[in-house]
Amino acid sequence: MSDTLVIYYSYTGNSRKIAKYAQEKLNADILELHPKIPFSDDYDKVVEEWQNNNIKRDVEIEPIDKDLTNYKKIVLITSTWWYGINPVMTRFLKEYDLSQKDIIVTATNAGWIGHSFQDYKKLLPNSNIKGELDTVFSFNSLEKNNILTPLQEIDNWLKKLN
Ligand SMILES: Cc1cc2nc3c(=O)[nH]c(=O)nc-3n(C[C@H](O)[C@H](O)[C@H](O)COP(=O)(O)O)c2cc1C
Repeated sequence: MSDTLVIYYSYTGNSRKIAKYAQEKLNADILELHPKIPFSDDYDKVVEEWQNNNIKRDVEIEPIDKDLTNYKKIVLITSTWWYGINPVMTRFLKEYDLSQKDIIVTATNAGWIGHSFQDYKKLLPNSNIKGELDTVFSFNSLEKNNILTPLQEIDNWLKKLN
């Protein structure tokens, strides 16, 4: 078993791509988060719903199947939703304790990362955040799964966990 765990939530697959890459590069274990009630498959509906509602609204998540005490190093990956980190990740960080662990974080986004890093910091007051990465995917709706952040930047971010 690895001492490193990649934890992610992905709605359209972008964060999953980064998570799988990180898992392979770091030889890590991986944990996907799931909301108890899945978001609609209709992307525009989800965008509208979360734009028109208070982003701080909580979502419930499925219990996790990993023992976090087994891991010293953690990689957190999720998307930016309305300038902050995705509510699934927010809920996870409220429910589970990552105190004293070494952590690197990223928010995948379309160019407006907003206060995502501040969100991570607030939710991880007793963790050692060793690296932040702004992972940008294309803004163009037809190409929104195309990554713009160079691979070298991702590799440099992953190295900060060592
Ligand atoms: C509800 C919603 C809100 C979003 N808000 C933002 C935003 O505030 N800033 C931004 O740059 N991208 C925003 N995006 C785009 C996503 O952050 C981006 O496409 C991300 O790469 C998706 O990651 P995923 O495929 O792991 O879900 C939003 C997408 C959705 C669905």
